Amino acid sequence: MYKIYDTVDEVARYTAQRLLNRIQARPDPVLGLATGSTMEPVYAQLITELRKTPVDLSRLTTFNLDEYIGLDGSHAQSYRYYMCQNLFNKVNIAQDRVHLPDGLVEDVEGACQAYSATIKALGGLDLQLLGIGSNGHIGFNEPHTCFSSRTHVVRLSEQTRIDNGRFFSTRAEVPTHALTLGIQDILEAKEILLVATGRNKARIMAELFHTPVDEALPASALKLHSNVTIVLDREAAAQLPPQVSSGGGLAAAVAGPEISMAEGAVASTK
Ligand code: F6R
Repeated sequence: MYKIYDTVDEVARYTAQRLLNRIQARPDPVLGLATGSTMEPVYAQLITELRKTPVDLSRLTTFNLDEYIGLDGSHAQSYRYYMCQNLFNKVNIAQDRVHLPDGLVEDVEGACQAYSATIKALGGLDLQLLGIGSNGHIGFNEPHTCFSSRTHVVRLSEQTRIDNGRFFSTRAEVPTHALTLGIQDILEAKEILLVATGRNKARIMAELFHTPVDEALPASALKLHSNVTIVLDREAAAQLPPQVSSGGGLAAAVAGPEISMAEGAVASTK
């Protein structure tokens, strides 16, 4: 299902509310979290909501999607640091229940297996929050990652290193490798929210809409899942066919976007 909003603020409000709903739906929820620019307003909104209406987060468990290899958790560009700055240090979450891959771990293979296994042992992710790379990556699963992948090491694509270079002073500082939850792990989440905002995401969102399930476009794996919501602002939705509006289905796009989306279209969300 697509949810298309006029502004980034509205996207953040909707997404934060969906996270809150999930958190409150069971006593010990398990969330899959993402980092990146897209999620900053989402976490800011979540914090605002939690300050207005406090919710007990002491039994919430979180697993982040990914982490750069070679960066310590105190490095300003590590994803652990990002999560502490943007969420964990600002809410009453139990620090021993937050999980991120360790970018400095020695037994990489063992750590990867343990990461996926821990999620399974807890009954899986209730909700996985995702952004999308300009090349269609989800987590750091770059194009041509096997859809049956579990947590693994990836070599970051040149496109991703260029895109993420904005956070580092020089290109040489951008890590070449990362650890990421696999596509199979992501697909096992009970519910998935993919969020994209800004005109830089318009091309890939159109490509995702038109592409059938194909390992060349990692996010197309989401068409195999029955409970995915794609949350966009107008800019990110700008190159979607005009009939696509809130309420249309992603899976339907595999069969024939023009017809099914025209049939499924409902009024845009305001
Ligand atoms: C981050 C992650 C990535 C980002 C994607 C978009 O944890 O998994 O897939 O979601 O690279 O990043 P932004 O939001 O910075 O455009």
